[in-house]
Amino acid sequence: MKKIGIIGAMELEVEELKGKMVIRRRVEKASMEFLEGKLNNTEVVIVRSGIGKVNAAICAQILCDCFKVTHIINTGVAGSLKNEINIGDIVVSTDALHHDVDVRVFGYPLGEVPQMGCLAFPADERLTQLAVSSCKEVNPEIAAYKGRIVSGDQFVSDKQVKEEIVSNFQGFCVEMEGASIAHAAYLNHVPFVIIRAISDKADDSAKMDYPSFEKAAAAHSAKLVEHMLPAI
Ligand code: ADE
Repeated sequence: MKKIGIIGAMELEVEELKGKMVIRRRVEKASMEFLEGKLNNTEVVIVRSGIGKVNAAICAQILCDCFKVTHIINTGVAGSLKNEINIGDIVVSTDALHHDVDVRVFGYPLGEVPQMGCLAFPADERLTQLAVSSCKEVNPEIAAYKGRIVSGDQFVSDKQVKEEIVSNFQGFCVEMEGASIAHAAYLNHVPFVIIRAISDKADDSAKMDYPSFEKAAAAHSAKLVEHMLPAI
C-alpha cells in the first residue's frame, strides 16, 4: 500500500496539511514529530524537518527506515532563479543538486558529491507530471514550472551569489533542503518530488520580500500537495 512522506522545513510549510489530516499516531525521533494518518483519503506521514540540508536528510532517512514510506514529497518555499518565475509561482523538480558542494580539485564537476555517480538526483517523472497537472487544476491562476531545484546551507539574498548559482547550475529556484531529501530518497530507491512556491527572487530584494510572501507561498504549495495525493 502506498504511504506518502511529506516534509516541510518550517511549521508554516506543513501546518495546513497537519490541520487537515486525521492523525493516528505521533512519533518523536531526532527531535522531530512525525504525524502518521490520513490526508485526503491517503496514507501519509507529515513532518517538519527543521531548516537546512542536514535536518532534511535525517528526516528523509527516518521516513524510509521507521515509516517505510513509498514516496516522498517536499513542500515549501524557495527563491526564484529565473526572471520569468515570479513570487507566488510554483516550481516542481525535474532533478535536484547541492549547489554548495565543491570537490573539483579531484576532478568532480561543481555540485557533485564524490562517488555518487550523478551530479543531480532525478525526481520521479510521474510525480513531477502529476504535480504540474494538479497545479493547473487547483491553482489555475498560478504558473507552474518544471525544472532543476538547487539547495545549499545558505539563504541567497545577493545578486552576485544568485548569478553565480544560475550560471553554474541552471536551476529554476534555490532553497535549503530539497537536494538532501532527493539525495536520501535516491539512496533508498524511494520516488520523490520537490514542490516549491516562490517567496522571493533570491537577490537583494529577498530580505524584504521573504517575510511578506512566505506564508502565502507556503500555502500554495501545500494546497497542491493535498490535491495530488489521491492520484499518486
Ligand atoms: N527559501 C526561500 N527563499 C530562499 C532563498 N532566497 N535562498 C535560500 N532558501 C530560500
